[in-house]
Parts: sequence; C-alpha cells; structure tokens
Amino acid sequence: MLKVEGLYKSYGKTQVLKGANLHVKPGEVVVVVGASGGGKTTFLRSVNYLEKCQTGSIQIGGKYLLKDGVYASKEEIREIRRNIGLVFQGFNLFPHKNVLENLIEAPIRVLKYSPERAKDEAMQILTFLNLADKADSYPCELSGGQKQRVAIGRALALKPELMCFDEPTSALDPALTGEVAKVIKSLSGEGMAMLIITHDMQFAKQVADRIVSMEDGCIVEEHIYANAD
Ligand SMILES: Nc1ncnc2c1ncn2[C@@H]1O[C@H](COP(=O)(O)OP(=O)(O)OP(=O)(O)O)[C@@H](O)[C@H]1O
Ligand SMILES: [Mg+2]
Repeated sequence: MLKVEGLYKSYGKTQVLKGANLHVKPGEVVVVVGASGGGKTTFLRSVNYLEKCQTGSIQIGGKYLLKDGVYASKEEIREIRRNIGLVFQGFNLFPHKNVLENLIEAPIRVLKYSPERAKDEAMQILTFLNLADKADSYPCELSGGQKQRVAIGRALALKPELMCFDEPTSALDPALTGEVAKVIKSLSGEGMAMLIITHDMQFAKQVADRIVSMEDGCIVEEHIYANAD
C-alpha cells in the first residue's frame, strides 16, 4: 500500500530525513515511535505531499508520488492524495459546521457527491463510530474523544486506502484513548492500511501489527509486537 525508499528531506541546512525506508502492506497497521524532533511528523507530511523531499521514492497504492527525486504530475498527485486520509493531533474540525456538515464537505467538494449521497454515507460512518446521535452537534459541544472520532470520520468519508494519524491520542485521557484504539482496530479489521505516529507505547501495542522507530532521520525496526487478540 505504501512504499517509501531512501527519502531525504532537509529544511535549509537541517537534514531531517536521511534515507528513510518504510513499507506498509494493505490492511497493516504500522506505528512509528521515536524521540521528539526525530522527523516523524515530517515523514508523515511528506507522504501526504504537505512537504516536498529532495530525493527518494514514495509509492502509494502502486502509484509513484515521488520516483527517484522526481514528483508525479499535478493531476497524478491529486489522484494519489485522494487515496490517503490524514488525521492530525489537533482536531481541525470546522467549528461553525455541525458534525454531519463536517463529514459531507469533502465528499461533495472532492468526490462530487450529491448532498443526499454524502449525507447517507456520512451517517453510515457516524453509526460505525458510535456518533450517530451527535450528527447535529457542533464541535464545541463534544468531548475530546468524540471530536477525535469526528476527525477520523471526516478522513474516512473520502474512502482512503491508507490512513495516517499524527499523535491521535495526545490530547486524550486513557478512556478516550481506548475509544480511538477501538476505531483503529475495527478499521484494520476491514482491511484499511494505517500509519500512526504516537508517543504512547501502550496505545501503540494495542493497535500495531508492527512498531518501528524513527531515529536520526531513518526508520528502524523495533522488535516489539502487539499482543494478538
Ligand atoms: N517547517 C520547518 N522548518 C524548519 N525546520 C523544521 C520544520 N518542521 C520541522 N522542522 C525540524 O525538523 C525536525 C523534525 O521535526 P518533526 O516535527 O518531524 O519531529 P517529530 O519526530 O514529529 O517530533 P515530535 O515527536 O516532537 O512531534 C526538528 O528538528 C524540527 O525543528
Ligand atoms: Mg511530530
């Protein structure tokens, strides 16, 4: 699903990624841990084309976003990015839109869905996330865990094959972290590939098929495996 090879990225003179390699198989949940400032967020942003890298290759769903330092065309990039969902640390919900409106915005704008179809599918997602009763609520009326699930729902509405999360539980207490872990587990059960950055080792072990660590701009395999359940 995702193949990153020899990725290099610098901000000015600061070399952040130094030949990072990572493969994620369809349906696989890979968690990235590692010291602060190691380049985890930069790596995730690069995979989502929010940062440009100097050299290396990034392949998503069999298509090259970046091949040996050369980026695909604008149209190809747009196509590839449709296949990736991204959930940040903050929730980034539209505060003036209710939960349902937050979920249907992108499908209508990007996938050109009719409002009816977008609403139908959004309600299915909200039901799956156990949030159907919050469809009319505004973000300010939700708990942190609920907001985080809405943010996940909004990314899911575009039906990505790869979901990326940057510290999805950093603002949550342990009970709410459990809610997010449950959602991630059931998504992986449905075959979605996921790349998750976290500092929370307990959460990592709960959700991961594989845990890797970002050290000095490279991805290093960690030999810590999740308990099968
Ligand atoms: N826009 C930027 N301009 C310049 N330097 C940056 C920029 N973004 C990140 N960096 C630098 O790149 C390095 C890696 O940052 P990054 O955010 O990827 O780390 P991280 O592993 O996600 O850390 P954390 O665990 O604290 O979130 C840091 O040294 C940071 O200062
Ligand atoms: Mg980070």
